[in-house]
Amino acid sequence: MTVTTTMSATPTDGSGALYELTGITRSYSKGSVTVSALRGIDLAINSGEMVSLEGPSGSGKSTLLQLLGALDTPSTGTIRFAGRNLEHESDAELTELRSGEIGFIFQQFNLIPTLSATENVEIALIPRERSRERRQARAIELLTQVGLAHRLDHLPSRLSGGEQQRVAIARALAKAPRVVIADEPTGNLDTATATEIMGLLHELHEREGVTVIIATHDEEIATQTTRRIKLRDGSIISDERIS
Ligand SMILES: Nc1ncnc2c1ncn2[C@@H]1O[C@H](COP(=O)(O)OP(=O)(O)OP(=O)(O)O)[C@@H](O)[C@H]1O
Ligand SMILES: [Mg+2]
Repeated sequence: MTVTTTMSATPTDGSGALYELTGITRSYSKGSVTVSALRGIDLAINSGEMVSLEGPSGSGKSTLLQLLGALDTPSTGTIRFAGRNLEHESDAELTELRSGEIGFIFQQFNLIPTLSATENVEIALIPRERSRERRQARAIELLTQVGLAHRLDHLPSRLSGGEQQRVAIARALAKAPRVVIADEPTGNLDTATATEIMGLLHELHEREGVTVIIATHDEEIATQTTRRIKLRDGSIISDERIS
């Protein structure tokens, strides 16, 4: 098994990599059984990259995304985000990081079913914007950007899958995040809609310079990114930049 990583020196001032992962493992214990979901990941991701994480079911994609999103902590190893060692951050600092700098997009969209499209985006703006009017105006602007100006008042149940995912993207963008982490964002969508959603993520990446990290089973999706990392049994088996 060949392990290729792009990690070399370890800059500490945050000027280099957005993420630097060193010796990351993550195990889950259930009674006497231990599952090793990640088995020694060394990885650096630069600002502005658009990365796919591919691998079969159970290879550790979601586990790795949870760590990158500061939603979980590794069993061993170090994660630096923008030069900050996440191990040394308090819970309050991690919460701030998640609510201010990291946008999340999920396969199941995770919208609040009782809120309209606009309101779903507005709530993500609460930590940044105190004025309700300004939150609403910004939410409308973001929904317009993702092509949903005509669906502002719709509840999620009245939106198609692709439209729900657009709302989720607008919600992720509301934070003006440094990085958008997407776990199988097109997993519930047909091919044509999946392509549209990928087009939107591409646009975002190119226009705003946002770093995008996408876990996917789908090779078609992975070929639309500029760096493909493949996981197998909790290890990186290849890491390829596509120019
Ligand atoms: N909370 C948990 N408790 C116990 N085991 C877990 C937990 N989360 C994940 N695992 C195990 O860790 C391994 C990696 O799971 P992970 O969800 O990261 O895989 P994945 O690549 O995202 O798979 P999929 O493509 O099905 O989403 C699997 O063996 C899984 O069963
Ligand atoms: Mg998963």
